[in-house]
Amino acid sequence: MIERIKHRSKNTVELFAPAKINLFLAVTGKREDGYHDLCTVLAKVSVGDTLEMKRRDKNGGVKLSCPGFEELETSDNLISQAVDKWFQQSGESWGVEISLKKKIPPMSGLGGGSSDAVSALLGMNELGDDSLPEDMLYHLASEIGSDCPSFLTAGLCLAEGRGEQVRSIKESLSQQISGQKVLLFRPDIGFSTADVYAGLARKKSYSSKDWALKSVKSWESGNLPIEKFLHNDLEIPVFEKHRYFLPLFEQIKQQFGIHPRLSGSGSSCFALLPSGFDQVSHLKDLIINAWGDKSFIQTCEIIN
Ligand code: C5P
Repeated sequence: MIERIKHRSKNTVELFAPAKINLFLAVTGKREDGYHDLCTVLAKVSVGDTLEMKRRDKNGGVKLSCPGFEELETSDNLISQAVDKWFQQSGESWGVEISLKKKIPPMSGLGGGSSDAVSALLGMNELGDDSLPEDMLYHLASEIGSDCPSFLTAGLCLAEGRGEQVRSIKESLSQQISGQKVLLFRPDIGFSTADVYAGLARKKSYSSKDWALKSVKSWESGNLPIEKFLHNDLEIPVFEKHRYFLPLFEQIKQQFGIHPRLSGSGSSCFALLPSGFDQVSHLKDLIINAWGDKSFIQTCEIIN
């Protein structure tokens, strides 16, 4: 399992909640439950939120504060859902105050809400009288959101089904990619995941599962370089609706020789920066010129 604890003292725990990017995302069909079948490779990055969780003796469930993002302080926040599920499952009842420092922009395909929820589950395990076993945490995570279980798995992972069937990618490959520099960039607009999937469903533009699994296998066995492996089927509906993505991607390719990708359902994009790349500030200028100075731009690296 993963280690997310930054600081621990009596009745208080501080946890990191990393963002993710999808190095590969193939949507292989629509399911009867309304979700889509996926074959996706996720990597965690060093940009992330921080949760400070304080156990209070009195009953009272969860009290969530999120300075600067007050609209997230609701009972349908995935953190609140995670805490409620943890209490239900453990049978314990006490109060917990959670302060969320948000660095991952919401609605950006970086998995911020899911990662926060998983870190909350880990924090509850830490503060509780007893901790829930790992398989139960996976089960609760999969109920909270499709990409939650991937945040319980260390290193790169492959997620299938609606995203909840997760396995680790070969450890040597995770180690090799760990430290890879990444530029995250996002226009000043967020996308609804459900809308993006619905856009793809209208086009019925799915990848074959066979092709997706073969691609993952080739990459994992060292026969496909990462630049050729990067893929995201959700670019189809996003680029069609938001015409300003492709021209910027093309410019980045032409000027810097880098092929950016959309992460998840967007609106964040990422570019893997070649080692020794010394033109980050020019690249940032290009993005700001194209998408304005309210764009989110952040350099980070892939972590385990
Ligand atoms: O699971 P999660 O709540 O993160 O998913 C948000 C929405 O994204 C779902 O309600 C669904 O419309 C869409 N989705 C999907 N197939 C997936 C994951 C998400 O259609 N595998």
